[in-house]
Amino acid sequence: MDVMRGLGERGESTPLGGVENLMLHFTPYSEDWSKLPVIVSGEGCYVTDDRGRSYVDGLAGLFTTQVGHGRTELADVAATQMKELGFFPNWSFQHPRSLELAEKMAQIAPGDLNSVFFVSSGSEAIETVIKLSRQYHNANGEESRRKVISRKIAYHGTTMGALSVTGIPSFRAPFEPLLQGFYHVPNTQQDPEGAADAIEEAIEFGPPETVAAVILEPVQNAGGCLVPPPEYWKRVREICDKHGVLLVSDAVICAFGRLGEWFGIERFDVVPDMTTFAKGVTSGYLPMGGVMVNDKVRSALASNAPMFMHGSTFGGHPVSSAVALENIRIIEREKLLENVHSLEGYFGDELRRVAGEHPIVKEVRGMGFFWALEIRPERPDGTKLAEDEYQKYFKGVLSRKLLEGGLICRFDDKEDPVIQYSPALVADRGIIGRIAEITDSALTELERELGYRS
Ligand SMILES: Cc1ncc(COP(=O)(O)O)c(C=O)c1O
Repeated sequence: MDVMRGLGERGESTPLGGVENLMLHFTPYSEDWSKLPVIVSGEGCYVTDDRGRSYVDGLAGLFTTQVGHGRTELADVAATQMKELGFFPNWSFQHPRSLELAEKMAQIAPGDLNSVFFVSSGSEAIETVIKLSRQYHNANGEESRRKVISRKIAYHGTTMGALSVTGIPSFRAPFEPLLQGFYHVPNTQQDPEGAADAIEEAIEFGPPETVAAVILEPVQNAGGCLVPPPEYWKRVREICDKHGVLLVSDAVICAFGRLGEWFGIERFDVVPDMTTFAKGVTSGYLPMGGVMVNDKVRSALASNAPMFMHGSTFGGHPVSSAVALENIRIIEREKLLENVHSLEGYFGDELRRVAGEHPIVKEVRGMGFFWALEIRPERPDGTKLAEDEYQKYFKGVLSRKLLEGGLICRFDDKEDPVIQYSPALVADRGIIGRIAEITDSALTELERELGYRS
């Protein structure tokens, strides 16, 4: 998924075997995979590759390692749990760690999001949301409510249901036909003023009695940290209530402190009917995802459905649950949500300072520890780069310079190109300053190559 492109053009090949055997995710075959970085260890906001080179992990793995790398506390609770009960499912049985985690999550979730269904990834969480929505409406005697509305360019995962929610045409094209009745409306960058009304129009076109759910990220990731206008979420909540449609926040990225709150959506003063989570719940030390459900949805199912007809072997895994509990304790103990709140202004200011020195930067967007710089794919006179030039300068020069400078971040070009940053929540001014400094040098190099400066 475009974490950084063009990296296989650099350096020598890894001496490690297995390159011919390992299939990478969202990584072009045109690159020399033997030259991609092999990350062997991590500590705090830094990771080290097999040649001993150190990088600032400006992406927290993949928006995931909230408490940073190298946390022995997480390893210790995992080892203790494995010795006590290495595995048991949440099918017809319960175990202490998933009960404790469910109780804790109900305490930290906003409003009446009091129940949780655990799975093992973000995509599975979205699959669960689709099924919960449909079964909720069945339970209310509204079997015709099947359709799902989400936003253009939004990424919600790769399994066939989640991919149907995803609004990125190139990700969908090889696998069509996807599920029927999934619609994509303009995102808040494409139509800031009309984006909420577009949801209402889609529901009315539905017509409403066929629409099950609206699924949106608090701040849309794909496209580059699309922070919605202030009243957007409240308006969408009103629209969903008016038409009897469930409102789902997909907080796979935005939860567990990424926006400075437990579920991200608190920043917009709205309580959805459900919220997903994954990634940061365990800081990625073990796979886990899930869906928090409000009392209305839980009680409709409990009263009128024989059971929620869904499950997975590893949902609520005891070791993942133990790690998630300790991860939450670390976030609380070390006041990491507070750290994000206190440094988000500095983060934005640093990026705006860099942007001010580089005419190639079009916009700085973001909140919390989730930021993007949008870059113009143009020459100084405003002429667009041809595709081969774009590949050469953006995926080649820019991505490579960022990495050679010692920064792992994300280069994404599903819309106009953006560099994205999402460091661990333990990052301090020093780390943020280093991220800005490396970005500054890489942009200087790009601008030199494109004739913005001599
Ligand atoms: C908003 C959102 N939803 C869902 C997913 C899918 O999560 P996973 O990769 O764990 O399946 C992602 C992954 O990045 C995501 O960003």
